[in-house]
Amino acid sequence: MTFSRQIKIAPSILAADFANFGAECRAIEAQGADWVHVDVMDGHFVPNITFGPATCAAIRPHIRGFMDVHLMIAPVDSYIEAFAEAGADLISAHLEAGPHIHRTLQAIRATGKKAGLAINPGTGIDAVAHLLDLVDLVCVMTVNPGFGGQKFIHSQLDKVRSLRQMIGDRPIHIEIDGGVTVETAPLVVAAGADVLVAGSAVFKGGSVDNPAPYGVNIAAIRAAAAR
Ligand code: DX5
Ligand code: ZN
Repeated sequence: MTFSRQIKIAPSILAADFANFGAECRAIEAQGADWVHVDVMDGHFVPNITFGPATCAAIRPHIRGFMDVHLMIAPVDSYIEAFAEAGADLISAHLEAGPHIHRTLQAIRATGKKAGLAINPGTGIDAVAHLLDLVDLVCVMTVNPGFGGQKFIHSQLDKVRSLRQMIGDRPIHIEIDGGVTVETAPLVVAAGADVLVAGSAVFKGGSVDNPAPYGVNIAAIRAAAAR
């Protein structure tokens, strides 16, 4: 896949019907999702539990495009192979998940998958500078990870701007995760983001203009991002 900074909308299935992931993935892709964002939580790194590699593997055949797996787990390294085998196209690990993020990113790259680096709202980007050669994406969390439907943390916009400068011409995506809505989408794009994760805004943001089966509202977010 050639690198492009064209805006990508990545609905998070954290807000989908967990008993119906196949249909949910097909619905969001039919509605124009660019990527499918899959949130893996362990009840240890974050105070919530979702699912693991077996569920990712079960979902995979229902996704025609790009599967973006966000690991909110610690430790990470011992599970990378399993998520790669489950069919992830990109695997993101958190900077805060352990003392050896450099090794973790190397291990993700070694599987042949793209590597993402996620950073919590309380984390600065100084350390990211030393990892740029190992990442295809930096995921800036604009909520504290663990739950969907939280309020966007506006202070992160400055961080996104600095990160965009730091990245320069490198082929590294900036992904925003948390509280993306039609209101916040234009702000994050203006700050330099190109991948917008949206959970509740997609799955619970139905409108008469977007009468999709699950309230999918991807077109509205894309239009807002283009403003
Ligand atoms: C939060 C997850 C997000 C979440 C976003 O820990 O990483 O991907 O699903 O949900 P919204 O869009 O509802 O903030
Ligand atoms: Zn996520």
